[in-house]
Amino acid sequence: MDDKTIQQVKQRYGIVGNYEGLNRCIDIAIQVAPTDLSVLIYGENGVGKEVLPRVIHDNSTRKHNKYFAINCGSLPEGTIDSELFGHKKGSFTGALDDREGYFGVANKGTLFLDEVGELPLATQARLLRVLETGEYIRVGESEVRKTDVRIVAATNVNMQKAIREGRFREDLYYRLNTIPISIPPLRERGRDIELLFRKFAYDISEKYHIEPVRLTEDARVLLLKYKWPGNIRQLRNLVDQISIISKEREITPEILKSYEVTDDSMGETGLVLHGQNREVHGQSQHSYEQERDMLFQLLSSIGKEVKDLKELVHNNMEHLHPAPQENYRIVEEDMPEIDASVQYAHQPVIRQSQPYVVNGQRYPSQNENYANHNIQEVDIEPIDEAPMSNRELMRKNIIETLKRNNGNRKKTASELDISERTLYRKIKEYGLEI
Ligand SMILES: Nc1ncnc2c1ncn2[C@@H]1O[C@H](COP(=O)(O)OP(=O)(O)OP(=O)(O)O)[C@@H](O)[C@H]1O
Ligand SMILES: [Mg+2]
Repeated sequence: MDDKTIQQVKQRYGIVGNYEGLNRCIDIAIQVAPTDLSVLIYGENGVGKEVLPRVIHDNSTRKHNKYFAINCGSLPEGTIDSELFGHKKGSFTGALDDREGYFGVANKGTLFLDEVGELPLATQARLLRVLETGEYIRVGESEVRKTDVRIVAATNVNMQKAIREGRFREDLYYRLNTIPISIPPLRERGRDIELLFRKFAYDISEKYHIEPVRLTEDARVLLLKYKWPGNIRQLRNLVDQISIISKEREITPEILKSYEVTDDSMGETGLVLHGQNREVHGQSQHSYEQERDMLFQLLSSIGKEVKDLKELVHNNMEHLHPAPQENYRIVEEDMPEIDASVQYAHQPVIRQSQPYVVNGQRYPSQNENYANHNIQEVDIEPIDEAPMSNRELMRKNIIETLKRNNGNRKKTASELDISERTLYRKIKEYGLEI
């Protein structure tokens, strides 16, 4: 493909960068677009996997028909088949009407199956059938339907490993992977890092009418050395944060370091939290178990720090407002407590339907969609010191990460380096449903 076409695509879709590996991805996308071949896009978190399926659709003969992007990781396991393939009215509790399903409505169009590695095995079998024969059956029906859908899929998990572990069907993998496109991580893209920094700095300065931040030469060098575990998404968030929070417009390495951009970023913390250590294309030697152990270690240390901090604040509060009795719970009799069977050190005791703030940290109520409402201050309940179990730490971490991301489950799952499906399951398991 000639360079001009690639540049036009970049301009049209807001893709920034000149790295050869990125150009190659765009080139393959344009070349494969007019065919009906399945495409599987690989790449770490935040590398920009979501734009290429759109490029493929828009440059195909299907461009005037429907395009749907479906995140397979976020569809609950119980309804995923019905979402994808449709269902017949009354086929299960809650099936109040017939549902067409994406494979039906996208007929003659394109389906982008994001996080395809998260599909349950039963759904994988249905998907294989529709890919091979164009046939599918709606949930609760026996009638075979036909559809003509082009599939583009994306994943950031190591599919070979998933196959070895029996989590992904090998036949489906080969069927999806007819044309593989591997998007390079940001750390390999050299000067593109600087270009992206400038673009994001400009975007946010326009939006908020502020002077754009710029890099000193040393800061530029630091950005090139940094490993970018969260790739472009992380870079954009960093630029947004610095642009708004930093008083300086000239960004030095010292300022970057205060945002945890360091030249030894391959340390354990970064690896685990941002999924840097996740196996992509079989490159990493670390096993899932190692990752899990590291995560638990990390959670334990975070848990301890949080506990120490709360203790400190608690002591200060006690000093300012001495408790009248040994215990100072503020709980209205008629209001149930959150999950009373599980008690955590300094767990807040709250009214069920009120958002609340403990020591400046805001937690959403159980029936509030993590949106902003009136915030109610409550005291904390001192509980006997007991080391938190991994489960407790995970629960706490989920609450705090959800809060930090204003309830956005996708971002929360990504930050915790778990799939959205796992997050949904844990929210249910820990009684955090809203
Ligand atoms: N080359 C690029 N130029 C400009 N913006 C980009 C580029 N690549 C990615 N982005 C931006 O980075 C962010 C992350 O991209 P995207 O959501 O496509 O990542 P992803 O690979 O799907 O990540 P994940 O695996 O976590 O879902 C988006 O806001 C996207 O617009
Ligand atoms: Mg994505």
